[in-house]
Amino acid sequence: MTSPRILIVDDEADLRELLEITLVKMGLDIDSASDLATARDYLKQHEYALVLTDMRLPDGLGIELVQEITAQYKNTPVAVITAFGSADNAVVALKAGAFDYLSKPVGLEQLRVMVRSALRISQFDEQPSVKVAVTPALRLMGQSAAMQALRAQIARLARSMAPVAISGESGSGKELAARDIHAQSGRSDKPFVAVNCGAIPEALMEAEFFGYRKGAFTGAVDDRDGFFQAANGGTLLLDEVADLPLAMQVKLLRAIQERRVRKVGATVEEPVDVRIISATHQNLLDCVGRGTFRQDLYYRLNVIELNLPPLRERLDDIALLAQAILTRLDTEPVSLAPAALDALLDYSFPGNVRELENILERALAFANDGVIEVGDLVLKAAYTPKTVAVAEAEQSVAALAESKVVVQDAPALTAINDIPGSLPDHLDDVEREIIRRALSKTQFNRTQAAELLGISFRQLRYRMQRLDINAPE
Ligand SMILES: Nc1ncnc2c1ncn2[C@@H]1O[C@H](COP(=O)(O)OP(=O)(O)OP(=O)(O)O)[C@@H](O)[C@H]1O
Ligand SMILES: [Mg+2]
Repeated sequence: MTSPRILIVDDEADLRELLEITLVKMGLDIDSASDLATARDYLKQHEYALVLTDMRLPDGLGIELVQEITAQYKNTPVAVITAFGSADNAVVALKAGAFDYLSKPVGLEQLRVMVRSALRISQFDEQPSVKVAVTPALRLMGQSAAMQALRAQIARLARSMAPVAISGESGSGKELAARDIHAQSGRSDKPFVAVNCGAIPEALMEAEFFGYRKGAFTGAVDDRDGFFQAANGGTLLLDEVADLPLAMQVKLLRAIQERRVRKVGATVEEPVDVRIISATHQNLLDCVGRGTFRQDLYYRLNVIELNLPPLRERLDDIALLAQAILTRLDTEPVSLAPAALDALLDYSFPGNVRELENILERALAFANDGVIEVGDLVLKAAYTPKTVAVAEAEQSVAALAESKVVVQDAPALTAINDIPGSLPDHLDDVEREIIRRALSKTQFNRTQAAELLGISFRQLRYRMQRLDINAPE
């Protein structure tokens, strides 16, 4: 068996030698070049498991090599060596397709970690069986063009160390996408740690992220690892990253740039090897504009952007997702009546796939004979299409004109003289008013109120939930 071959491109003889010695000790074959022209010649002659290039070379920039390799030798991972303090160069290189970078002075342990993960990457292409199988539950489902493009993008970027920023409305699959990136990466046998940045009390944040030493503060009775140590070798998802307080943003930026963290109460830093993914349903750039999110951290996190399109923009996926969700939720075979599917296709899903899951879960409780009918779906009126609302309004106005129905009694219930701007909203208002009255008449006894209204207790409960009617404080 031949050893993997690595190409080193650097004009500093000393550094080149140090890299060579270290990599030869790892049992690798090394070629080294002192300029771009020599590197190009080597690339034509051999296939490399990794190319490691300096940024500034006598006949050009390392970034040119990154671009050429990304375009012509797609299966060859390339990493750059950046000068001390030039964090921007690292971001530029990652954007151009480098899978990772090392900063000067080059730490030998970091070099070894990087080379090992590069070798895992190039192994993948030769022997796909080496790859840990991704369980179906982890995959983002959907056949829409948008979803297929997204999966292809994930497969590409999974190989790289570049930070990924995932955006998308709530429930659109951001966390699932992050898990998918991890599962397809060379880090899949190491931990995936998801942190909800909005859920950690500010005072505990540093300790939670970086760990602490025994005695660092009252209650610190033992040394403890933080999220970074827990995710070492793997992937750290910073979920709802826009919620990070500014003070923590500074510390996080440092940790990401230096790839080192210091436990609270510790005197030394420790190296960490963590791929960072961030996610938010907010517009981070707006947060930068408002001054609630640091621009430098934004720039660091947003090296590769991944956007999850809202479900309403990928109608092709709805039937498939619905069937998959139903199969997961119920052991009995259930199907969607054609009219129910039509209603879902017309719905705008403010809560995206998670809302679809909730709608179907509720519908299952109502469905008879293994078929979900339109009536079993409880869709939020405000998010069903205008066209339907207008058609219904026309119908009911015509009916009203014919029967000259006048609803008397309460002021809220007599306002049928005018055509409401939105019939569904208007009907919701009316329904809300009636339910409130029934509830107040029965001192909020829901069983009696349901009887009074001629509906089941369960129906009343769902209507109250939908209309946001709560018990008095
Ligand atoms: N394409 C998809 N295929 C299958 N399941 C999906 C898909 N997208 C989302 N889901 C499911 O929808 C639910 C919500 O997904 P996820 O938690 O990833 O969304 P999110 O964007 O992180 O939401 P939030 O903004 O609320 O945190 C999960 O149960 C997830 O499994
Ligand atoms: Mg989420």
